[in-house]
Amino acid sequence: MDETALQSALSNPQNLGEMPDADAVGTVGSPDCGDMVRMWLKYKEKDGRRVIDKASFQSFGCQTAIAVASLATELIRGKTREEALQMNAEELSAPLGPLPPMKIHCGQMVEGALKAALEAEQTASGTSPNLTTSAPASGPTLADALQAAGKSAGGIKIILEPPVQQ
Ligand code: FES
Repeated sequence: MDETALQSALSNPQNLGEMPDADAVGTVGSPDCGDMVRMWLKYKEKDGRRVIDKASFQSFGCQTAIAVASLATELIRGKTREEALQMNAEELSAPLGPLPPMKIHCGQMVEGALKAALEAEQTASGTSPNLTTSAPASGPTLADALQAAGKSAGGIKIILEPPVQQ
């Protein structure tokens, strides 16, 4: 993993925070470590195509997840929903170089949150068995979602504390 790229993404994370006027939002929790990422998407029409205008994220997660989420929100701008759906964790984290084995799920969690947000509009459904949730853009905060998920899914361990140095 490219530590310089990681530190650079962490020192100035892009698109961090809730997006009140988002068109879609997706949240995914990792059963491996209990971390979660939520991603918001806003679309626009451009040259007759509906593309992602902007994306933002919140993460109670490790530094790798935050860095990948930051990069992902930049990478998907200007893409259509279908194009963004094609992007996997490896592509989203490419600027960081190959992730070490114990960090691969961090990128996959970001991919999951992105896909949940991309699919949220289509399904307008509530939850799926793999802890992916869709909620209205004006829905609860990530902290609320964490608590709700913990209550409803029963198996999620939630630790709200600053990420440790990885
Ligand atoms: Fe679990 Fe990074 S998201 S350690």
